[in-house]
Amino acid sequence: MTQAPESLNLSVNDATKKSLDRDCTTLSRHVLEQMHSFGAEAQDLSAVMNRIALAGKLIARRLSRAGLMEGVLGFSGDINVQGESVKNMDVYANDVFISVFKQSGLVCRLASEEMEAPYYIPENCPIGRYTLLYDPIDGSSNTDTNLSLGSIFSLRQQQGDDKDQTASDLLTNGHKQIAAGYILYGPSTMLVYTMGNGVHSFTLDPSLGEFILSEENIRIPNHGSVYSVNEGNFWQWEESMREYIRYVHRTEGYTARYSGAMVSDIHRILVQGGVFLYPGTIQKPEGKLRLLYETAPLAFVIEQAGGRATTGLVDILDVVPKKLHQRTPLIIGSKQDVAKVESFIQNGH
Ligand code: AHG
Ligand code: MN
Ligand code: MN
Repeated sequence: MTQAPESLNLSVNDATKKSLDRDCTTLSRHVLEQMHSFGAEAQDLSAVMNRIALAGKLIARRLSRAGLMEGVLGFSGDINVQGESVKNMDVYANDVFISVFKQSGLVCRLASEEMEAPYYIPENCPIGRYTLLYDPIDGSSNTDTNLSLGSIFSLRQQQGDDKDQTASDLLTNGHKQIAAGYILYGPSTMLVYTMGNGVHSFTLDPSLGEFILSEENIRIPNHGSVYSVNEGNFWQWEESMREYIRYVHRTEGYTARYSGAMVSDIHRILVQGGVFLYPGTIQKPEGKLRLLYETAPLAFVIEQAGGRATTGLVDILDVVPKKLHQRTPLIIGSKQDVAKVESFIQNGH
């Protein structure tokens, strides 16, 4: 029997070791590494992220079999607090996030797009002073056609005791977010998060049932060719927004991409650069997207990756909402591309 040369043995071992190291860089371990601590706060945040990951796995599992199961696709028949028709997946995903935090001792309140008022988990409140804000399914209109969807999350520390259960302490700017990110249900399921120290992406390995680190410290390009906007609203926009779109049309090097789920559109922009826009209209100057669980968490992610997010006049992270479900216009993405849109809004060219 011929012996493999020693150097070959070594490189095989190195490769195995490298892939084992990678497989063991799970989300919860990564959070601990980010915190440079094994203290109580680090353990709590690691556990919170682990529960969010569990929610993502449960939603991904249901989506992967949606066409084979009863009651997964279609509408529930209800209208939510936003005045939008609720889909069965919205209801399921909303409940998933509540269920994963029950008996966790971690999260006292959850606030979501689908609930008029926050949901309290009283048994957690004496110890778990975090609030989770979330959009359980982003891009619901893609559900019935097997296209990409997302979930968006934002974590805040509760301020005060909220005895009257008004959750008024949530009405603060986006810099108060401790962690934020999204889960993207695409060909693979990805989780992207920030805790204010860079942006990191994880891919769900279905054979392990774990989110494994894909890329650390993602940087968004300063400029990209993609502009992502629903041009069906063209005649409802202010003239300055129409002027920007006309500029894009007559300038070489721009291409349009719009999926109906901003998590996937913004993920493309995070990786390849460009700009996503959901401007206000003349009728609805505040636009469609909600600040606390849609635009602020995505702004936190994109800014941490070196990009920008603005309403056109104010940085998204500086906006202080007056109510839980407040909407804001959104222009988000590569620095140069966001600045270009701003120049149209602010100077009219
Ligand atoms: P949601 O499904 O949570 O209501 O959000 C949908 C959002 C966003 O994801 C998407 O980019 C946009 O609304 C699509 O809206 P239009 O159909 O108006 O373009
Ligand atoms: Mn949404
Ligand atoms: Mn939604």
